[in-house]
Formats: sequence, structure tokens, C-alpha cells
Amino acid sequence: MPRRPHVESRMIHGEPRTPRWEFSHHVVPPMPSSVTFRLDSAARGARGFAEFAAPSSQRGKRRPIYIYDRLDEPTRGLLEENLATAEGAETAVTFASGMAAISGVFLLLTKAGDEVVAHPTLYGCTHSLLTQWMPRVGVTTRFCDLRRPERLGKVVTPATRVVYLETPVNPTLEVLDLETVADEVRRLNRGRRGDARLRLVVDNTFPSPLGQRPLAHGADIVVASLTKHLSGFGTDLGGMVAAAKEYESGLFLVRKDFGGVLASKNAWPILVYGLPTLSVRLAAQQERALSVARFLEAHPKVAKVHYPGLDSFPWKNVARRQMTDPAGRFMPGTLVYFVLKGAPPKARRAAERVVDHVAKNAYTLTLAVSLGHVRSLIEHPASMTHAALDEASQVRAGIDPGGIRLSVGLEDAGDLIGDLSEALDRA
Ligand SMILES: Cc1ncc(COP(=O)(O)O)c(C=O)c1O
Repeated sequence: MPRRPHVESRMIHGEPRTPRWEFSHHVVPPMPSSVTFRLDSAARGARGFAEFAAPSSQRGKRRPIYIYDRLDEPTRGLLEENLATAEGAETAVTFASGMAAISGVFLLLTKAGDEVVAHPTLYGCTHSLLTQWMPRVGVTTRFCDLRRPERLGKVVTPATRVVYLETPVNPTLEVLDLETVADEVRRLNRGRRGDARLRLVVDNTFPSPLGQRPLAHGADIVVASLTKHLSGFGTDLGGMVAAAKEYESGLFLVRKDFGGVLASKNAWPILVYGLPTLSVRLAAQQERALSVARFLEAHPKVAKVHYPGLDSFPWKNVARRQMTDPAGRFMPGTLVYFVLKGAPPKARRAAERVVDHVAKNAYTLTLAVSLGHVRSLIEHPASMTHAALDEASQVRAGIDPGGIRLSVGLEDAGDLIGDLSEALDRA
């Protein structure tokens, strides 16, 4: 049997033989611009529409009949093949943003009267999608602390269809044990059939597929923002869903009719720059993240630091088992969460002063939301990314008023520590 190249190599070269590759002599696929495609005959057009809608689509196996960008398109298709490889999934379907991917999954898996059960700490927009928008279409959410998966049985009802979580959790970096949650979901699924089954959906944005592959730990569906580590340079929005083949057709149809497609011009840089460089960026960024986390841990103004690579990390054992690259190496990631000392109102003011000082004076740190980029970004979740959670929801989600989230980029670790040290001393 020929040797199977490593995932890192396949993220550069993709499938050696793919019917999507129509550009016979290019080394890099050309930048696409065609919204619509010549169909040659009515019969070919009809076959194209029929194949797109057919649940038993042979996508990826034979030369596709491209019709219109919103249905399918070659550059996005190449990216989807490589994303599926990275996640260890049978298929991946991209969306215009992480939020388009997440809402696409809820639209696919739920209908009026159904329920979602989610861990209470969630990215702010996901929280607002579940609590503000999904109830308008009759889908409600109950929260359950999934650090204690045995509680799931008390919260799940006959109407529940989805169990939803992020791990590591945004922004606190709590690590949830995917295998124990998946075991509990499997137990609760005994006796449930077809669409009544619970699906475990995991947001894998923080670790990226080279830092964790939730499908291998029992998840049914992975969602992620491509805007972060996968794009990597802060230039392109995108989202994806990775899952078994049985979900592919439904995801395509949801994307076609709700229209949240990833623009082919945004797919191109993720395919050509983002994915091929992911492994080296992650390795270099997490080295710097560990140095920064150690500095923060020793700082007299810092009450606690959460970074999976620290010995003091409370969920260290699960993290070491679950957060690995495809070769099994531990991948603690590029995000650091730290909390300033003091009672909540005082700690909040101090955190605001730190990020304000950074905004005005730092060279290597930028006050901005988002994460996973080559530039280091700092933010105050309680007033920024998680402002969609009211105060009570923030308390329930463990989001400290004095908490600061740091996404460590590729700058020199000494420079990053210098900027942080100055901001902490002055705040
Ligand atoms: C964990 C997580 N999921 C989803 C998203 C949404 O991604 P996007 O901004 O690409 O819609 C974000 C954005 O920050 C995130 O942090």
C-alpha cells in the first residue's frame, strides 16, 4: 500500500486526484471569480440540479456539474476536502462565517417545539443566537453545566435534539471532557430513533483541528469559525461544519436557501495560505503563549491564569488527553485567560485600565476581539465578546469582571511580556 502522507502535508497538497481540480497545469489554484457556470445543454443543467438535491450525492467522487456559486464552487470544494481531512471527518461544508455555520446546524437539526441543551459558557453571539433568535422559530435552550455530564439526564427532555458545547470554553478556557459527555449522550439516545436522537455538536474554534478533533472523541458534528486559526492572518471571515456524510446534503440545502455561503475569494486565501501554514503557526504561537502564561502566573496583580499548558491548569488531565495534534502531541493552544486581583467592581476597573493602557501604548498587543491570528490580540470579555450575556448569565458562565482574554500571536515572547508588564504595572 502506498504510504499515506501526514495531515500537515495533505493540508498543503489536498487530494492527489480530485475531480474538482479543473486547472490541469496550475500548482496553486487560480483566484476564482465565476458566480455562474456554463451548462452546455438543458439535460446537463437538469442533471446538475438533480445531483445537487439528491441525498445520495456522489460529491467528491465524480466531476461535479457546477451551476451557481451559492450551490457549489471548485475553490470552496477544495477547501472543504482539506478541512474534512484536518477534522478527520467524512465531509466538511463551509459557511460565510462561524455564526453562519452554527446557525446552519441549528436550522438543520431542530424545528419548532424542539429544545437545545448547552453548556452555560458560550461565545456571546452563540448565546444570543440560542436565547434571542432561536426562540422566535420555536426552539428553546436549557443550560446544563457539562463539567458534570451526569446532570444531562435531568435537563434533557423528550423534545431535546442537540447538546451543544465549546471546549476549551470561550473565554475561560475551561476544558470539558468530550468522551464523558459523548458517553452520556449515547446512553440517553438508547430508545431514541432517527430525528429524535440527540446530536452532540462541538465548537472547535479555539483549538483548531490540529489541536483537537472532537469527532474522534464521540461528537456527531463539529462547527468552527475559519476566521480564527484557520485563516490565521486576520483577513478573511469563514465558518465550517464537519460531520459524517449523512449530514452533507442537508447542510448544502440549508446553505443554499439561507444563503450564508463562504465567498470563493475568501475560501482561496484560507486554502492557499491559512491551512498550509496552520501547523507551524500553532507550534510557534503556543510556545510564546506558555512563556506569557508563566509570566502572568508569577505577577503579583494577577489572581489566576488559565492556560492548558500550565501545571496549575485545573483541567490539565482532560486537556492532555483531548487536546492533541494528529501525531498525539499535546497542543495547549494560543489562548490565555487571566483574572486580576480584587473584588468584582475593582477588578473590572483594573482590567479596563490594563486593556486601555495596551490600546494606547503597546506595540505587540492590540486591543481587539477575534483570536488565532499572527498578531496578538487582547480583550475584556465581560464588556466585549460576552457583552451579549446579561450580568446574571455572566456570573453563571464564570466570566469574571476582572478577566482578560489574550490570543497570542507570533511576536517575540519577550516583547509581549514587556508590553503586558508595563500595562499591569501602570493599571
Ligand atoms: C468560539 C467561537 N465560536 C464561533 C465564533 C464565531 O465566528 P465568526 O466570527 O467567524 O462568525 C467565534 C468568534 O469569535 C468564537 O470565538
